[in-house]
Amino acid sequence: MTDAPRGPGSGSEPPGPPVVSVLRTEADHAWLPPEAFRVLGSRRVLVSGTGPLVDTVHGEVAAACERFGGTVTRAREGTASAGSAYDLLLCLEEAAERGDEGFTLARERGRTVVTATGQRGLLHGLFHVVRLGAAAFDGEHAPEAHRPALATRMLDHWDNVAVHPVMGQVERGYAGGSLFWRDGRARGDLERVRAYGRLLAACGINAVSVNNVNVHEAEAHLLTDRIGDVADIADALRPYGIRTHLSVTFAAPVVLGGLTTADPLQEEVRAWWAGATERVYAAIPDFGGYVVKADSEGQPGPFAYGRSHADGANLLADALAPYGGTVHWRAFVYDHRQDWRDRTTDRARAAYDHFVPLDGAFRDNAVLQVKHGPVDFQTREPVSPVIGAMPRTRLAVEIQATQEYTGQQRHVCALAPMWSQVLRFRPGGAAAARVGELARGGLVAVSNAGDDPYWTGHPLAQANLYAVGRLGWQPDADPLALLDEWIELTFTPEAGPDPERLRAGLRAVLRDSWRTYEKYTAPLGVGFMVQPGHHYGPSVDGYEYSPWGTYHFADRNGIGVDRSRATGTGYAGQYAAPWAEVYESAGTCPDELLLFFHHVPYGHVLHSGTTVIQHIYDTRFEGVAEVAAARETWASLAGLVDDARHARVAERYEEQLRCAREWRDQVNSYFLRKSGVPDAHGRRIH
Ligand code: GCU
Repeated sequence: MTDAPRGPGSGSEPPGPPVVSVLRTEADHAWLPPEAFRVLGSRRVLVSGTGPLVDTVHGEVAAACERFGGTVTRAREGTASAGSAYDLLLCLEEAAERGDEGFTLARERGRTVVTATGQRGLLHGLFHVVRLGAAAFDGEHAPEAHRPALATRMLDHWDNVAVHPVMGQVERGYAGGSLFWRDGRARGDLERVRAYGRLLAACGINAVSVNNVNVHEAEAHLLTDRIGDVADIADALRPYGIRTHLSVTFAAPVVLGGLTTADPLQEEVRAWWAGATERVYAAIPDFGGYVVKADSEGQPGPFAYGRSHADGANLLADALAPYGGTVHWRAFVYDHRQDWRDRTTDRARAAYDHFVPLDGAFRDNAVLQVKHGPVDFQTREPVSPVIGAMPRTRLAVEIQATQEYTGQQRHVCALAPMWSQVLRFRPGGAAAARVGELARGGLVAVSNAGDDPYWTGHPLAQANLYAVGRLGWQPDADPLALLDEWIELTFTPEAGPDPERLRAGLRAVLRDSWRTYEKYTAPLGVGFMVQPGHHYGPSVDGYEYSPWGTYHFADRNGIGVDRSRATGTGYAGQYAAPWAEVYESAGTCPDELLLFFHHVPYGHVLHSGTTVIQHIYDTRFEGVAEVAAARETWASLAGLVDDARHARVAERYEEQLRCAREWRDQVNSYFLRKSGVPDAHGRRIH
């Protein structure tokens, strides 16, 4: 049942939300600038199906038609075969299976046809058409099926409800304040939250956890007496198909419920969680579930009761199960009070040692959330050996979009190439599955967004947020293709005077920026040479004598951590073949991870042919030169990018260059003084 095309937003029934609702925010349009919707202009569009997300699709199309011309017709039902009078059909099929995110896209008889069996699929289909631009209306082709490889694509916000005396409003947040909370209260800026949900949906994200994994008192109460605040956020995100999750404290029965114990095997504790969870679902019927950081960096957990992490996770999984919720239980468990004199305790080993023996013990709705590397989001780490070692457990891979260790959104550091390397890694060797296939529990990223007008502080850090969603949807996607996609959408180059120069310039400053960052910071996988506490800028010995377990062991002869089985901590032995062998020997270990696995003399010759010490010097000089070149390239784009954005990035490049020089000079001076080996090229080292 369809209407003939009529005026914009004037379809039959039911009406979509007010057209302006997709545009009413001061924040940057990011990858959804109005111009990106020009492709829908002058088209005759049919949106068919019923439901709140179909309303959203209709509202989006109507807004585009209002701006660029074109017509949209709304029909309660209608299939791809209906309506030859349309250029674009967006149809929810009758056999609608709720929650299905896939869609098909066809070009037939001069029409573009998107069909979906679930409302979220229809929304993804619309954004796909926008992404394709004019190509979506070219030629003819048979239906292509699109569906996300990973069912959960989630952002964890490390947002504090109350300002934390050390961490501020957002822990490791470099994009201003929280989108959700300010000074202990809900911000209530739900239009901004809705705009955020819209951006996330357009890149493929479908879940958001709204508070810090370090749950302080103010955050703890979100679970009970302040669940209404969370429900408001959920209401704002729901029209874009985003489910809301909450970080909770394992000690909630004690802290909030007045019990004397949080022991996961005690009946009263189980009853408390069941009751609390029932009330959460009464407020938020499509609530996603809990995120838990337990027995980790001081957070409470099951160890206090002599229970395992499976006992802990299953307690919450059981409370959530009646409602279809999931617990994301983090595997970031290690001893953060270790003695640096003790060379046998290796933080890198911890997650594997704690969790792999529990494989098979977790409920189906418990997801073990594992950081992609064994330590902590360093610029370069091997892939965590936990991934691939727990075939009977649903694992989610956690990455960090917020640039805690990668320049804090003052430096350009496009992280998709790193994440892509992780997702394409095959823990079981060449013929085995990739991480992107093993992550059955999804892809989770620590969000880099805040209340900054550009969302991410550094406008170019939007590329990282975009890539999270796209890689979750398609973990084997080419990161450079994703970068190009982001550039096309965000900057809509064709709308400017010199599209090719703009494209080339943006590509040049972003594509290898992670490797550039790596070059001027910590060498060869050694990691952690940052200033303690805030983690910005160099401090070679910052964590060398600390209880956090992150050391480089540099002395006058050499550097690196011996993690071999033969002579070191045995960490290399946590990998399956062939990696256990590859990493075991300094001769076969890849250069970029050498110092993560081995302590070697400064004169050790890398596969690249240079010595370790010369590599340290060379890469630091190269890194600074690359930043200087990128700054120039950016300067040359003045006039092709809007002035305010251009100025913001230019200003950050000044800081990046200053900081890169500081890294170069501190790292090089440190190692010259330790090793006494001069730079082969005679450059100035202080
Ligand atoms: C890092 C980070 C912390 C964070 C922790 C985590 O250690 O510095 O701020 O709380 O990771 O992932 O829980």
